[in-house]
Amino acid sequence: MVTGGAGYIGSHVVRALTDGGIDAVVLDDLSSGFESFIPEGVPFVKASILETEKVRAALVEHGVQGVIHCAGYKYAGESVKLPIHTYRQNVEGTACLLEAMADAGVTQARVLLVRWRLRHPGRRGRQRDHPHHAGVALRRVQGSSASGSSATR
Ligand SMILES: NC(=O)c1ccc[n+]([C@@H]2O[C@H](COP(=O)([O-])OP(=O)(O)OC[C@H]3O[C@@H](n4cnc5c(N)ncnc54)[C@H](O)[C@@H]3O)[C@@H](O)[C@H]2O)c1
Repeated sequence: MVTGGAGYIGSHVVRALTDGGIDAVVLDDLSSGFESFIPEGVPFVKASILETEKVRAALVEHGVQGVIHCAGYKYAGESVKLPIHTYRQNVEGTACLLEAMADAGVTQARVLLVRWRLRHPGRRGRQRDHPHHAGVALRRVQGSSASGSSATR
């Protein structure tokens, strides 16, 4: 499964998988992606990664063995204006996805890390080492729950 497979990076990932003879299924909420980016013949599930039950059902229905997670809210400027929204999409969304994967018995994952900024009183510049920085949070999620060498349907 490729989350965000209707987006810029995800649609290329889907093409690379299918070109390599690996079946793919796309899960995307089309918040910034386009269904027309999904190659013909690739199954498409319209859902948010925050919808754990829908994601779990899709993983089971399509016999998914691994996930490449490209569904991210990447807009650095917006993440400053809408930090809670961005946190939900990128951090909670990844946790929901991992929960659905665990429920469905899918153990292989690759997460395309999201870059966004968090303003913190008294500190300037990038907050890479801040405990609430998305990259830090996602690396912790990866370290505890996700490993593997390939992603297939
Ligand atoms: N574009 C780049 O050059 C680049 C470089 C490095 C990393 N990244 C990261 O890769 C990821 C994808 O980037 P992109 O350029 O393809 O962005 P994009 O906006 O083109 O694609 C993101 C896709 O995810 C979908 N999506 C967003 N939130 C979702 C949700 N909650 N549930 C389901 N689908 C959701 C969108 O509809 C879209 O199709 C982002 O995390 C970005 O930070 C991008």
